[in-house]
Amino acid sequence: MKTGYNKGIKLKKILITGASGLLGKSLVEVCLENNLFVIAQYHKSKPESQKNCQWLQADFFDLKSIKTFLKKNQPDLAGCHYLINTYGPITLKSVPELKSEDYYHDFFHNVLTVIEITQFFIHHTLLQSVVNIGFENLGKIMAYKEALPYAIAKNALLLITKSFARYYKNIRFNLVSPVTLYGAIEKLKNGNQVFPRLVAENIYDIISGKKSGLNVTIE
Ligand SMILES: NC(=O)c1ccc[n+]([C@@H]2O[C@H](COP(=O)([O-])OP(=O)(O)OC[C@H]3O[C@@H](n4cnc5c(N)ncnc54)[C@H](OP(=O)(O)O)[C@@H]3O)[C@@H](O)[C@H]2O)c1
Repeated sequence: MKTGYNKGIKLKKILITGASGLLGKSLVEVCLENNLFVIAQYHKSKPESQKNCQWLQADFFDLKSIKTFLKKNQPDLAGCHYLINTYGPITLKSVPELKSEDYYHDFFHNVLTVIEITQFFIHHTLLQSVVNIGFENLGKIMAYKEALPYAIAKNALLLITKSFARYYKNIRFNLVSPVTLYGAIEKLKNGNQVFPRLVAENIYDIISGKKSGLNVTIE
């Protein structure tokens, strides 16, 4: 199904990137339960089709591939009110092992993808509300043993989210920081864990304006 119509009622549309992942799947579920029409991006593993959910394939390999994805799907994305930038991979290596490419990788995939997609949404859609995803230590000045490029990138994302919120007053910009998700392959040692469904419910409340929070930690 490609339209945002349900029994003659026009549903509000949302794009969720990384929608086939651990958090993404719960976000799709919660948004569908709350009567949104979901445009869900995946890379390699397309989940089963569902009513009011349109799966779009993309590889956010470089800026050109992101721009191509957005341009190609512009007619479907144009009606979106909401955007959740879920895609955000992590590099885990000890500090001495890290190469410049690792810093570039995490910055590109956590920050530049969000900027590219968000700017497209600001100019080409009905954008009302955006949620970006951080992680549990966001905003803390601390040393990292294994996740330094990721921590740098996610902290940059917080600054970008705050700055966009200040500039684009007609759009809600928020950032939600979950602790490690139950089921995650990469776990921070001894850290608390949270169910993806609980995080998704909190994100829904924030994106739909029921709650606000520029850097909300979910634990
Ligand atoms: N996992 C945690 O414990 C945790 C904790 C705190 C914050 N976070 C943050 O929460 C967010 C979601 O994390 P997650 O663990 O749910 O992610 P995940 O399960 O690893 O999911 C990754 C998603 O990104 C897609 N993807 C992978 N490579 C791609 C590429 N080259 N181009 C485009 N899409 C690609 C995957 O598609 P396919 O399935 O098709 O491959 C999948 O939808 C991230 O921003 C992460 O930093 C995670």
